[in-house]
Amino acid sequence: MSDMAQDWIASPGSALHGEVEVPGDKSVSHRAVMLAALADGRSRIDGFLEGEDTRATAEIFARMGVRIEAPAASQRIVHGVGIDGLRAPGAPLDCGNAGTGMRLLAGLLAAQPFDSTLAGDGSLSKRPMQRVLDPLARMGARIDSRPGGLPPLQVHGGRRLRGIDFSPEVASAQVKSAVLLAGLYAEGETRVREPHPTRDYTERMLAAFGVDIAFAPGSASLRGGQRLQPVDVVVPRDFSSAAFFIVAATLVPGSELRLRAVGLNPRRTGLLAALRAMGADIRETHRTECGGEPVADLVVRHAPLRGIEVPAGLVPDMIDEFPALCVAAACAQGRTVIRGAAELRVKESDRIAAMAAGLRALGVEVAEAPDGACITGGTLAGGAVESRGDHRVAMAFAIAGQLASDEVVVRDVANVATSFPGFCAQATQVGFGLRRR
Ligand code: S3P
Repeated sequence: MSDMAQDWIASPGSALHGEVEVPGDKSVSHRAVMLAALADGRSRIDGFLEGEDTRATAEIFARMGVRIEAPAASQRIVHGVGIDGLRAPGAPLDCGNAGTGMRLLAGLLAAQPFDSTLAGDGSLSKRPMQRVLDPLARMGARIDSRPGGLPPLQVHGGRRLRGIDFSPEVASAQVKSAVLLAGLYAEGETRVREPHPTRDYTERMLAAFGVDIAFAPGSASLRGGQRLQPVDVVVPRDFSSAAFFIVAATLVPGSELRLRAVGLNPRRTGLLAALRAMGADIRETHRTECGGEPVADLVVRHAPLRGIEVPAGLVPDMIDEFPALCVAAACAQGRTVIRGAAELRVKESDRIAAMAAGLRALGVEVAEAPDGACITGGTLAGGAVESRGDHRVAMAFAIAGQLASDEVVVRDVANVATSFPGFCAQATQVGFGLRRR
């Protein structure tokens, strides 16, 4: 079954059983292509996510003169051109749906000798870029946007950048990474101090490519003018894709699923803590390392859940998992309160509004707040929900359909292919009732 269908019909299947191997991590795949492209020579990437977002990033580097081979699915050989070897692209660069692609590239391209334009799809064109434009301007970059800091971005080349000491207001790995990538080209030292630690893949991977970078949770600094050594990268499986199966197996009675070798970077696994506090039964086995990241098999058994107040400190560590968590909350006993998550309003969709509207359409009581929601658990009815073109909202409502008393129509699911092509096939294989319409 293809995920290119516009709508899904989700309805209770069987208890979920078997094993799932989710695709490679999206965040790591973007960064692997970017850094390999800038390295002095040939790097190999295994476990690359064959999603639309990460392919768009690879295509962008191909347009700037980087030869990238795909000898097999999920594998790339990148012939890096060196930190000063990118060529001017002849046309606007299309980041597709990917905020990570656009924000990190804004930092990288701000330092190039040529002009470039970064564009994206309808969703990305509404997402705030001012958060990267401000620090990059402080570094000496010149980037024009549409009013309100919206894409497309016109990046003016030939600027001399200088390092800055930057304390962003929002905890954002994308903003931190944009500044660090620009910092590679800047005079002097660039330092980022975060209000709350975010995923540190850029830092870890720069170090793996031989860059001298100091980092600890919540801070990172590097000196400009360093070169990158090619290296082979193994991408761990994406926790955020696994999250849908973790929640589904927890909710569907009689389920037991094994998720193979999932990436468990501590800045990504807040959902595990939240679900365990709600009563979930999730065990970790076969702990090992993949590409310098902790990975383990997750064995998830059905368990009844109770509502919780999600600790605000957990929010950045589970920022992409709220659509799935909202469905868990809707099936839990009692109320679940989410606060301090205003960032959800500026993801691929306004995820607070999208989840509140969809859950209400299925008969769930949801009170929206500017920075979260209060969800009262109960039973789910059938109905039609809009994914708003958001991959994670679509997959979350595919789970809701497994628990609903009648069919759930999930509209506009094509963007699932940005992060998890093949979701539908893997889900039906382990017992989901899910078909396209
Ligand atoms: C990402 C960082 C997060 C996350 C996004 C991927 C990354 O965004 O939501 O899906 O790869 O750096 P923010 O940094 O904007 O919070």
